Amino acid sequence: MEQTLEINGNRHRLDIEAGETLIEVLRDRLKLTAAKVGCGRGECGACTVLIGGRAKLACVTLAACVDDPVETAEGLADEARGFREAMADRGGFQCSYCTPGMVVRAVSILRGGDLSDDDALRRDMAGNLCRCTGYQGIIESLRLASQTKGSPA
Ligand code: FES
Ligand code: FES
Repeated sequence: MEQTLEINGNRHRLDIEAGETLIEVLRDRLKLTAAKVGCGRGECGACTVLIGGRAKLACVTLAACVDDPVETAEGLADEARGFREAMADRGGFQCSYCTPGMVVRAVSILRGGDLSDDDALRRDMAGNLCRCTGYQGIIESLRLASQTKGSPA
């Protein structure tokens, strides 16, 4: 089925197959490989992207059902600069396989989530699993990014 997908501000006219997932379209067809396949069944968050500004799991999203604009970690690199720098500073990643999904989730939280306490931040990040870091550096990075948000670069 012919369909237009808007990805990171670019419109792509594609012939979408029935059952084709958004992560397959992003990685295999458009070569946008920041979003990763971890579990492939909606449990780890490695494939997190924004659809219509909301964090969604691309591995369990049928591409044919996507009407709203999609943003991936590639397209959010500038907006996520504060979080990415904080992750490097606070040891928020090791192997980094989960990191693009964390970056996308962080952007969604920083755009409007509850930044008032660490428990709330942990709840907001709960859908994104990390096998390496123990999460403390990730939560610290989110807090740091929320504090520096809006500060001059
Ligand atoms: S790869 Fe999508 S949630 Fe794990
Ligand atoms: S840094 Fe390795 S899985 Fe998160």
